[in-house]
Amino acid sequence: MSISFSEDDEQQFVTSSVLPEDSNEGSLRPKSLNEYIGQKKAKDNLSVFIDAARMRNEPLDHVLLHGPPGLGKTTLAAVIANEMHVNMRITSGPAIEKAGDLVALLTNLNEGDILFVDEIHRLNRAYEEILYPAMEDYAIDIILGKGPSANSIHLELPRFTLIGATTRSGQLTAPLRDRFGVTLRLELYSPEELQQIVIRSAQILNIEIEDSGAMEIASRSRGTPRIANRMLKRVRDFAQVRADGVITKAVANESLLALEVDHFGLDALDRRMMKSIIEFYGGGPVGLDTLAATINEDAVTLEDVYEPYLMQQGFIVRTPRGRCVTRKAYEHLGIEFTNPQYEIEFQ
Ligand code: ADE
Repeated sequence: MSISFSEDDEQQFVTSSVLPEDSNEGSLRPKSLNEYIGQKKAKDNLSVFIDAARMRNEPLDHVLLHGPPGLGKTTLAAVIANEMHVNMRITSGPAIEKAGDLVALLTNLNEGDILFVDEIHRLNRAYEEILYPAMEDYAIDIILGKGPSANSIHLELPRFTLIGATTRSGQLTAPLRDRFGVTLRLELYSPEELQQIVIRSAQILNIEIEDSGAMEIASRSRGTPRIANRMLKRVRDFAQVRADGVITKAVANESLLALEVDHFGLDALDRRMMKSIIEFYGGGPVGLDTLAATINEDAVTLEDVYEPYLMQQGFIVRTPRGRCVTRKAYEHLGIEFTNPQYEIEFQ
């Protein structure tokens, strides 16, 4: 069963990827831990590990960053490199297509450098084994040739730090996960933290914004700085064309409604997902793959990008038998609540 909906041309605020309009994301990125807003727990721990490593004149232990997309994993890795006064090389799991790609990256590092591997859960399992001795002993063994004439050469590597980022730490193999000395989970940001981020970004981009306008954007950007910064740029367009250039609460509100982002920050796809669970599955439970096929979306996108915020806000719950919507979702969509069994579960 596949359904088409009228709300087809959805505004792309919510994605797992970096869009062309994020091109100046770099200039908005904080450079130091002091400038980095939010993620207090991760930051507090990191600053101890960084100070300790620097006092001992050693590279930082390998770090695994995990959490939903858009929360600043790459940004935090760059902050770590900056605080450690070292260079960072960036790659990603799917970009490493041959064992030689990984060997080249590792052998080109300098003492203390950081190798950042985004989406590390997508790294080919066969190449993971190259990482084990590299992480543990700063060495790799390369086998040249095949059969009886094969030769193994042992290469020493500079002492380096691997920073792995993943939206799905559960998909990492245990041997790889165990080789990270530091694991940090990034959490969705609070509206107050996002408000500070929006105000800071507006200053950098020379945008006039009132505190209440920043809060309006913050509270609708689903806990995610990348979304807040995207919204800021779109709301600026409305402010320039339809108002006097200043982002007030009213301007932010009107712009975001025009962009189909509601007061909770939900977009057309969020609403479509919840509506389908209600209309086709009586409020749930429905399995993720069935739901994804019903609304013609990718199951991984629904699970990694959409669900974390819908669950945090209490619109849906995950049960062993599938996804269910809560009373709050019915009320938000203006549909009469008919599935009381999940009221109990959600409380
Ligand atoms: N821009 C994006 N993420 C940020 C953060 N955590 N702190 C400050 N500015 C940011």
